[in-house]
Amino acid sequence: MSKQKKLIIANWKLNPENLKDAKKLFSDIKKVASRTQKVQTVICSPSVYISELNKMYSGHRIEMGAQDVFWENKGKHTGELSPVALKSVGAKYVIIGHSERRALGESNADVNKKMIAALKAGLNVVLCIGESKRDSQALYLKFLREELESALSGVSKNYLKNLIITYEPLWAIGKSADDAVSSHQMHEMYIFIRKILTEIYTKNTAFSVPIIYGGSAEPDNVKELLSSGEIDGFLVGHASLKADEFNEILEITNSI
Ligand code: 13P
Repeated sequence: MSKQKKLIIANWKLNPENLKDAKKLFSDIKKVASRTQKVQTVICSPSVYISELNKMYSGHRIEMGAQDVFWENKGKHTGELSPVALKSVGAKYVIIGHSERRALGESNADVNKKMIAALKAGLNVVLCIGESKRDSQALYLKFLREELESALSGVSKNYLKNLIITYEPLWAIGKSADDAVSSHQMHEMYIFIRKILTEIYTKNTAFSVPIIYGGSAEPDNVKELLSSGEIDGFLVGHASLKADEFNEILEITNSI
Protein backbone atom coordinates (compact mmCIF):
# COMPACT_ATOMS: atom_id res chain seq x y z
CA MET A 1 0.00 0.00 0.00
CA SER A 2 1.68 3.22 -1.12
CA LYS A 3 1.52 6.02 1.44
CA GLN A 4 1.87 8.70 -1.22
CA LYS A 5 -1.19 7.73 -3.20
CA LYS A 6 -4.71 8.71 -2.27
CA LEU A 7 -7.07 5.80 -1.78
CA ILE A 8 -10.41 5.75 -3.55
CA ILE A 9 -12.27 2.66 -2.45
CA ALA A 10 -15.55 1.70 -4.09
CA ASN A 11 -18.03 -0.14 -1.89
CA TRP A 12 -20.49 -1.55 -4.39
CA LYS A 13 -22.52 -3.16 -1.57
CA LEU A 14 -25.08 -5.61 -3.03
CA ASN A 15 -24.69 -4.26 -6.58
CA PRO A 16 -24.74 -4.71 -9.55
CA GLU A 17 -27.35 -7.45 -9.83
CA ASN A 18 -25.37 -9.80 -12.07
CA LEU A 19 -21.85 -10.52 -13.32
CA LYS A 20 -22.48 -9.03 -16.77
CA ASP A 21 -23.39 -5.64 -15.26
CA ALA A 22 -20.50 -5.86 -12.81
CA LYS A 23 -18.08 -6.41 -15.70
CA LYS A 24 -19.52 -3.44 -17.58
CA LEU A 25 -19.17 -1.15 -14.54
CA PHE A 26 -15.62 -2.37 -13.89
CA SER A 27 -14.64 -1.84 -17.49
CA ASP A 28 -16.05 1.73 -17.52
CA ILE A 29 -14.19 2.57 -14.31
CA LYS A 30 -11.00 0.94 -15.60
CA LYS A 31 -10.76 3.48 -18.44
CA VAL A 32 -9.95 6.21 -15.90
CA ALA A 33 -8.64 4.24 -12.92
CA SER A 34 -5.91 2.59 -14.99
CA ARG A 35 -4.35 5.98 -15.78
CA THR A 36 -4.83 8.00 -12.55
CA GLN A 37 -1.33 7.52 -11.24
CA LYS A 38 -1.71 9.42 -7.97
CA VAL A 39 -4.66 7.29 -6.91
CA GLN A 40 -4.91 3.72 -5.67
CA THR A 41 -8.35 2.55 -6.76
CA VAL A 42 -9.89 -0.37 -4.91
CA ILE A 43 -13.12 -2.04 -6.03
CA CYS A 44 -14.93 -3.83 -3.22
CA SER A 45 -17.45 -5.78 -5.24
CA PRO A 46 -19.70 -8.58 -4.01
CA SER A 47 -17.25 -11.43 -3.33
CA VAL A 48 -18.69 -13.70 -6.04
CA TYR A 49 -17.47 -11.26 -8.72
CA ILE A 50 -13.91 -10.75 -7.41
CA SER A 51 -12.24 -13.51 -9.36
CA GLU A 52 -13.77 -12.58 -12.72
CA LEU A 53 -13.19 -8.83 -12.33
CA ASN A 54 -9.64 -9.47 -11.22
CA LYS A 55 -8.93 -11.06 -14.61
CA MET A 56 -9.95 -7.87 -16.41
CA TYR A 57 -6.95 -5.80 -15.29
CA SER A 58 -3.38 -6.86 -14.67
CA GLY A 59 -1.71 -3.69 -13.30
CA HIS A 60 -1.75 -2.37 -9.74
CA ARG A 61 -3.64 0.88 -10.07
CA ILE A 62 -6.86 -1.03 -9.50
CA GLU A 63 -7.05 -3.69 -6.80
CA MET A 64 -9.99 -5.82 -5.73
CA GLY A 65 -11.49 -6.00 -2.27
CA ALA A 66 -14.26 -7.74 -0.34
CA GLN A 67 -16.92 -6.19 1.90
CA ASP A 68 -16.68 -8.58 4.83
CA VAL A 69 -14.78 -11.67 5.93
CA PHE A 70 -14.94 -14.41 8.56
CA TRP A 71 -12.28 -15.02 11.22
CA GLU A 72 -11.58 -18.69 10.48
CA ASN A 73 -9.91 -20.13 7.40
CA LYS A 74 -11.62 -23.50 7.36
CA GLY A 75 -14.01 -25.70 9.26
CA LYS A 76 -17.68 -26.02 10.08
CA HIS A 77 -18.83 -22.48 9.28
CA THR A 78 -21.55 -22.75 6.65
CA GLY A 79 -21.84 -19.72 4.42
CA GLU A 80 -18.74 -17.89 5.64
CA LEU A 81 -15.87 -16.53 3.53
CA SER A 82 -12.33 -16.86 4.80
CA PRO A 83 -9.48 -14.34 4.45
CA VAL A 84 -7.19 -16.91 2.85
CA ALA A 85 -9.86 -17.91 0.30
CA LEU A 86 -10.54 -14.27 -0.57
CA LYS A 87 -6.85 -13.65 -1.08
CA SER A 88 -6.55 -16.72 -3.29
CA VAL A 89 -9.15 -15.34 -5.73
CA GLY A 90 -7.47 -11.95 -6.01
CA ALA A 91 -8.76 -9.80 -3.14
CA LYS A 92 -6.10 -7.49 -1.71
CA TYR A 93 -8.38 -5.48 0.58
CA VAL A 94 -11.34 -6.15 2.82
CA ILE A 95 -13.81 -3.79 4.47
CA ILE A 96 -14.40 -4.75 8.10
CA GLY A 97 -16.91 -3.29 10.55
CA HIS A 98 -19.12 -1.52 8.05
CA SER A 99 -22.20 -0.12 9.79
CA GLU A 100 -24.44 -2.22 7.54
CA ARG A 101 -22.75 -5.38 8.89
CA ARG A 102 -22.89 -4.07 12.45
CA ALA A 103 -26.63 -3.41 11.97
CA LEU A 104 -27.02 -7.14 11.24
CA GLY A 105 -25.50 -8.02 14.59
CA GLU A 106 -21.74 -7.79 14.16
CA SER A 107 -20.17 -6.84 17.50
CA ASN A 108 -16.94 -5.02 18.31
CA ALA A 109 -15.51 -8.40 19.37
CA ASP A 110 -16.42 -9.90 15.96
CA VAL A 111 -14.77 -6.96 14.20
CA ASN A 112 -11.61 -7.53 16.22
CA LYS A 113 -11.47 -11.25 15.34
CA LYS A 114 -12.05 -10.48 11.65
CA MET A 115 -9.32 -7.81 11.70
CA ILE A 116 -6.73 -10.14 13.18
CA ALA A 117 -7.57 -13.00 10.80
CA ALA A 118 -7.55 -10.74 7.72
CA LEU A 119 -4.27 -9.04 8.65
CA LYS A 120 -2.64 -12.40 9.34
CA ALA A 121 -3.73 -13.58 5.89
CA GLY A 122 -1.99 -10.55 4.35
CA LEU A 123 -5.08 -8.58 3.38
CA ASN A 124 -5.25 -4.79 3.70
CA VAL A 125 -8.02 -3.99 6.15
CA VAL A 126 -10.38 -1.06 5.65
CA LEU A 127 -11.75 -0.68 9.17
CA CYS A 128 -14.98 1.34 9.46
CA ILE A 129 -15.99 3.29 12.52
CA GLY A 130 -18.84 5.78 12.80
CA GLU A 131 -21.53 7.09 15.09
CA SER A 132 -25.24 7.03 14.27
CA LYS A 133 -25.83 10.53 15.62
CA ARG A 134 -24.02 13.35 17.36
CA ASP A 135 -25.00 14.71 20.77
CA SER A 136 -24.15 17.94 22.55
CA GLN A 137 -22.21 16.18 25.34
CA ALA A 138 -20.01 14.52 22.71
CA LEU A 139 -20.83 11.03 23.94
CA TYR A 140 -20.39 9.89 20.35
CA LEU A 141 -16.64 10.35 20.83
CA LYS A 142 -16.72 7.76 23.60
CA PHE A 143 -18.58 5.41 21.26
CA LEU A 144 -16.02 5.94 18.48
CA ARG A 145 -13.12 5.43 20.88
CA GLU A 146 -14.64 2.13 21.97
CA GLU A 147 -15.12 0.98 18.36
CA LEU A 148 -11.54 1.83 17.49
CA GLU A 149 -9.87 0.52 20.63
CA SER A 150 -11.70 -2.78 20.59
CA ALA A 151 -11.05 -3.30 16.87
CA LEU A 152 -7.33 -2.81 17.48
CA SER A 153 -7.10 -4.93 20.61
CA GLY A 154 -4.20 -7.36 20.17
CA VAL A 155 -3.27 -5.98 16.73
CA SER A 156 0.50 -5.60 16.76
CA LYS A 157 2.10 -2.53 15.28
CA ASN A 158 3.72 -4.62 12.53
CA TYR A 159 0.30 -5.03 10.97
CA LEU A 160 -0.55 -1.34 10.87
CA LYS A 161 1.07 -0.91 7.46
CA ASN A 162 -1.90 -2.88 6.15
CA LEU A 163 -4.55 -0.88 7.95
CA ILE A 164 -6.76 1.94 6.68
CA ILE A 165 -9.23 3.63 9.01
CA THR A 166 -12.50 4.92 7.58
CA TYR A 167 -14.53 7.45 9.45
CA GLU A 168 -18.02 6.78 8.17
CA PRO A 169 -20.79 8.38 10.24
CA LEU A 170 -24.13 6.63 9.74
CA TRP A 171 -25.96 9.94 9.48
CA ALA A 172 -24.10 10.73 6.26
CA ILE A 173 -24.55 7.43 4.43
CA GLY A 174 -26.70 7.24 1.30
CA LYS A 175 -27.55 10.95 1.17
CA SER A 176 -25.99 13.70 -0.88
CA ALA A 177 -22.82 15.82 -0.75
CA ASP A 178 -24.63 18.52 1.31
CA ASP A 179 -25.33 16.02 4.10
CA ALA A 180 -21.78 14.69 4.30
CA VAL A 181 -19.22 15.58 6.94
CA SER A 182 -17.83 19.13 6.73
CA SER A 183 -14.11 19.67 6.36
CA HIS A 184 -14.09 21.13 9.88
CA GLN A 185 -15.76 18.01 11.32
CA MET A 186 -13.37 15.80 9.36
CA HIS A 187 -10.41 17.74 10.73
CA GLU A 188 -11.63 17.08 14.29
CA MET A 189 -12.09 13.40 13.55
CA TYR A 190 -8.65 13.20 12.04
CA ILE A 191 -7.09 14.61 15.23
CA PHE A 192 -9.24 12.36 17.40
CA ILE A 193 -8.34 9.16 15.52
CA ARG A 194 -4.62 10.04 15.42
CA LYS A 195 -4.70 10.74 19.16
CA ILE A 196 -6.15 7.30 19.93
CA LEU A 197 -3.67 5.60 17.60
CA THR A 198 -0.82 7.48 19.29
CA GLU A 199 -2.05 6.34 22.72
CA ILE A 200 -1.99 2.70 21.59
CA TYR A 201 1.09 2.73 19.35
CA THR A 202 4.03 5.04 18.78
CA LYS A 203 3.47 8.47 17.22
CA ASN A 204 5.30 7.51 14.02
CA THR A 205 3.21 4.39 13.59
CA ALA A 206 0.03 6.28 14.37
CA PHE A 207 0.77 8.85 11.69
CA SER A 208 1.49 6.21 9.06
CA VAL A 209 -2.07 4.85 9.02
CA PRO A 210 -4.22 6.33 6.24
CA ILE A 211 -7.50 7.86 7.38
CA ILE A 212 -10.28 8.07 4.80
CA TYR A 213 -13.86 9.27 4.83
CA GLY A 214 -17.10 7.57 3.78
CA GLY A 215 -20.67 8.85 3.66
CA SER A 216 -22.07 10.55 0.56
CA ALA A 217 -18.66 11.23 -0.93
CA GLU A 218 -19.51 12.66 -4.34
CA PRO A 219 -17.76 14.72 -7.03
CA ASP A 220 -19.27 17.81 -5.35
CA ASN A 221 -17.56 17.45 -1.99
CA VAL A 222 -14.38 15.44 -2.46
CA LYS A 223 -12.32 18.40 -3.62
CA GLU A 224 -13.01 20.50 -0.54
CA LEU A 225 -12.46 17.59 1.82
CA LEU A 226 -9.20 16.71 0.12
CA SER A 227 -7.96 20.29 -0.06
CA SER A 228 -8.48 20.83 3.64
CA GLY A 229 -5.79 18.16 3.96
CA GLU A 230 -5.43 15.37 6.46
CA ILE A 231 -7.55 12.96 4.52
CA ASP A 232 -6.10 10.14 2.53
CA GLY A 233 -9.07 9.24 0.40
CA PHE A 234 -12.67 8.06 0.38
CA LEU A 235 -14.86 5.03 0.75
CA VAL A 236 -17.49 5.64 -1.90
CA GLY A 237 -20.93 4.02 -1.88
CA HIS A 238 -23.65 5.12 -4.32
CA ALA A 239 -21.35 7.29 -6.43
CA SER A 240 -19.22 4.21 -7.17
CA LEU A 241 -22.13 2.60 -9.02
CA LYS A 242 -22.17 5.31 -11.67
CA ALA A 243 -18.94 5.09 -13.62
CA ASP A 244 -19.04 8.75 -14.72
CA GLU A 245 -19.40 10.00 -11.12
CA PHE A 246 -16.81 7.63 -9.75
CA ASN A 247 -14.40 8.49 -12.54
CA GLU A 248 -14.91 12.18 -11.78
CA ILE A 249 -13.93 11.51 -8.17
CA LEU A 250 -10.81 9.72 -9.44
CA GLU A 251 -9.90 12.62 -11.73
CA ILE A 252 -10.44 15.25 -9.02
CA THR A 253 -8.37 13.27 -6.53
CA ASN A 254 -5.62 12.72 -9.08
CA SER A 255 -5.42 16.44 -9.79
CA ILE A 256 -4.86 17.49 -6.16
P1 13P B 1 -22.69 6.33 0.31
O1 13P B 1 -21.49 6.87 -0.41
O2 13P B 1 -23.76 5.81 -0.59
O3 13P B 1 -23.19 7.30 1.35
O4 13P B 1 -22.22 5.05 1.11
C1 13P B 1 -21.18 5.17 1.99
C2 13P B 1 -20.80 3.83 2.40
O5 13P B 1 -21.52 3.17 3.13
C3 13P B 1 -19.54 3.30 1.86
O6 13P B 1 -19.09 2.24 2.62
